[in-house]
Amino acid sequence: MRWSAAQKINKSTIHRKKITVVGAGNVGATAAFLAAQKEMANIMMIDVMEGVPQGKALDMFESSPIQGFDSYVEGTQDYADTANSDLVIITAGIARKPGMSRDDLLSINVKIVSEVTRNIVKYSPNCIILVVTNPLDAMVYTALKVSGFPKHRVIGMAGVLDSARMRAFIAEELEVSIENVGACVLGGHGDTMVPLPRYCTMAGIPITELIDAERVQAICDRTANGGAEIVGYLKTGSAFYAPGASVVQMAEAIIKDKKQILPCAAYLEGEYGINGYYLGVPCKLGGSGLESIIELDLTKQERGALHQSMLAVKDLVKTIDAFGYF
Ligand code: NAI
Ligand code: 2OP
Repeated sequence: MRWSAAQKINKSTIHRKKITVVGAGNVGATAAFLAAQKEMANIMMIDVMEGVPQGKALDMFESSPIQGFDSYVEGTQDYADTANSDLVIITAGIARKPGMSRDDLLSINVKIVSEVTRNIVKYSPNCIILVVTNPLDAMVYTALKVSGFPKHRVIGMAGVLDSARMRAFIAEELEVSIENVGACVLGGHGDTMVPLPRYCTMAGIPITELIDAERVQAICDRTANGGAEIVGYLKTGSAFYAPGASVVQMAEAIIKDKKQILPCAAYLEGEYGINGYYLGVPCKLGGSGLESIIELDLTKQERGALHQSMLAVKDLVKTIDAFGYF
């Protein structure tokens, strides 16, 4: 008997949570594989590339007897197969190509994310959406506007990745386990992100007491440049292992109702003195999505940097609003 698309997940008598991953490229496939290995849910991957999500999904499913996971993974081109997803991860989009302006990229990815969101909402009206597509803070705003969902069900992934990078660099600097290191990066996902060394710790000790100011600044700069550093090596693509792991950490916090505090792109309505934009801030993630925003006590300088970051996001949103899609 030949299995057809969506047969296992949608017709199975085994009822598990369901995650749809839109875009079966580097980040999407990595996230799907990690989530499956954690047995968080059955995973449906959807992509416009005929056969690609099906092939990758089957390959992942065939690894399950070796890896020992009982999640089904499937691929499709048909949004009907994504129906009743509990959580949807949007990674669909294109990367900036030579000769393409930032606005060109913005206009293409706004169209993609809008179309994807419309389809997702049609078949999974109660899902929680996690957006990964860049430019992140503008794409998650697009998903919010197009979906009409409440803000706690549309969240962007960037801070987990940026903080993970910073944690890795601090652990390397101090030669300690990454498990002993916490880091905090706020703001938009770009050059204007705001690493906060005051809130970065090793075993509870602020790193500002352990690393000299010049090295701390170098770690902050490397963090802000983290995406570009990887592109510099890969040349034809951007990071995907750490981004895939980052969005899966957010998904797991929601699927398992962990009430975990993670830095996420959240729609701000007055928090940190910012209104009507997505920006990276510490959030509590649980079963209903983004359950609360934590307001840190920032210095004047830190607040100023966050405001600058908001201005960069505001610029992107202004361009999107001018496209007149929503
Ligand atoms: P990729 O090019 O490997 O994958 C993108 C996939 O989206 C492709 O398979 C493509 O066929 C698919 N796609 C395009 N239009 C589609 C549509 N309308 N419906 C369904 N699928 C569609 O790119 P990669 O490396 O996976 O990155 C994906 C996105 O995530 C990019 O925008 C990238 O910049 C962003 N990103 C964001 C990060 C963050 O921290 N927020 C970190 C890393 C990547
Ligand atoms: C990154 O930070 C490209 O946004 C992506 O790696």
